[in-house]
Amino acid sequence: MTSSSPRASSSPRAIDELRAIDELRAFDELWEQIAPIGRESKGYLRYALSPPELALRDWFRSQAALRGLEVTDDGNGNLFAWWGPAWADGAVLTGSHFDSVPHGGGYDGPLGIVSAFLAVDELRARGVTPARTIGVAAFVEEEGGRFGVPCLGSRLLTGAVDPDRAAGLRDAGGTTFGEALGARPAGARLDLVRRLSAVVELHIEQGRALVGMHAAVGVASAIWPHGRWRLDFTGTGDHAGTTLMADRHDPMLTYAYTVLAANKEARLAGAHATMARVLVEPNATNAIPALVRGWLDARAADTPTLDRLVEAIMKRATERAGRDGTSVAVEAESVSPEVAFDTALASRLAGILGGAPILPTGAGHDAGVLSAHVPTAMLFVRNPTGVSHSPAEHAPHEDCVAGVTALADVLAGL
Ligand code: GLV
Ligand code: MN
Ligand code: MN
Repeated sequence: MTSSSPRASSSPRAIDELRAIDELRAFDELWEQIAPIGRESKGYLRYALSPPELALRDWFRSQAALRGLEVTDDGNGNLFAWWGPAWADGAVLTGSHFDSVPHGGGYDGPLGIVSAFLAVDELRARGVTPARTIGVAAFVEEEGGRFGVPCLGSRLLTGAVDPDRAAGLRDAGGTTFGEALGARPAGARLDLVRRLSAVVELHIEQGRALVGMHAAVGVASAIWPHGRWRLDFTGTGDHAGTTLMADRHDPMLTYAYTVLAANKEARLAGAHATMARVLVEPNATNAIPALVRGWLDARAADTPTLDRLVEAIMKRATERAGRDGTSVAVEAESVSPEVAFDTALASRLAGILGGAPILPTGAGHDAGVLSAHVPTAMLFVRNPTGVSHSPAEHAPHEDCVAGVTALADVLAGL
């Protein structure tokens, strides 16, 4: 380096600025490698085990190989890259998921995996030799966007879902999870999970709380209890032109009323209810439907509120079905209990991060499933609009770099 090199002549502040530019460049470079994968005109389509998600898994393997990390899979579709012996006692696990909701954003999930690889790089650049193995995870089917059950990979790993039930879950085209995986899932490996000393998942924030707190990174305190219910509204299919209005048994009416009732009950309860997915049979403009299948996503700050909310919605659906001469059958597809993340770990992480804010979320995560078995924490990276599960989801890359540094600090601290 000559004496005219900016680094040789720079002040400590200028050196910090150059380091920040390098870190941003490193983030951008890794991000750009995956950004085009699964990107469509209306957002990302990265269904679990579909070609784009398989391409992301290949990318995961190649990134692990570049860093000399051994990759293992657990027979459930989850991948793990290990800095140190795989599943060593006391290992710390980080990472997230690649799959997206249909037409989702690029950050929900992949940010946690990209940040994990970069945090490994940062620790190595700092000369840290970890006392514990560090694992980077890519969990399968976190969104439940293809097979209907969210956090399917982490539920399988921890025994929260039966492997035969998981194997038989079908996507919209009729392919089962077992077929997509190429095997019956292996199921619970709590012997492995219990070897972990901590799990830390980094994720884009799915709200605007950090904006108001003027913080690039926060720590999670809790996940609202939530679930998915499938409602089958059955009526009498008939001719739209010849069936008198008074003679109809139209399940679309019962469904429409239920959508409005869910919204009203959630508002009254201070909770969240969403009916965003629907199938109609026969789905013809000139035929009264025989069946309307709708899905309810309901979430609340505590379990009694969630239970009361779902009960109130079902009561109103059933009453309306009585008036319409239709029927309604309900099946819970997945229910996720309230998660209170390890308080001591959250405070420790907030301390390592110089007093980062601690905040709850209404979104589900694999970390929530793992928290039943291992001290678990989450880091959230600021999202200026709060928009998520949409192509408009975004985090400024300066904040993503702050997330990488925070994750490296936390891993070093653990
Ligand atoms: C997952 O992102 C969920 O909360 O639905
Ligand atoms: Mn999500
Ligand atoms: Mn996610």
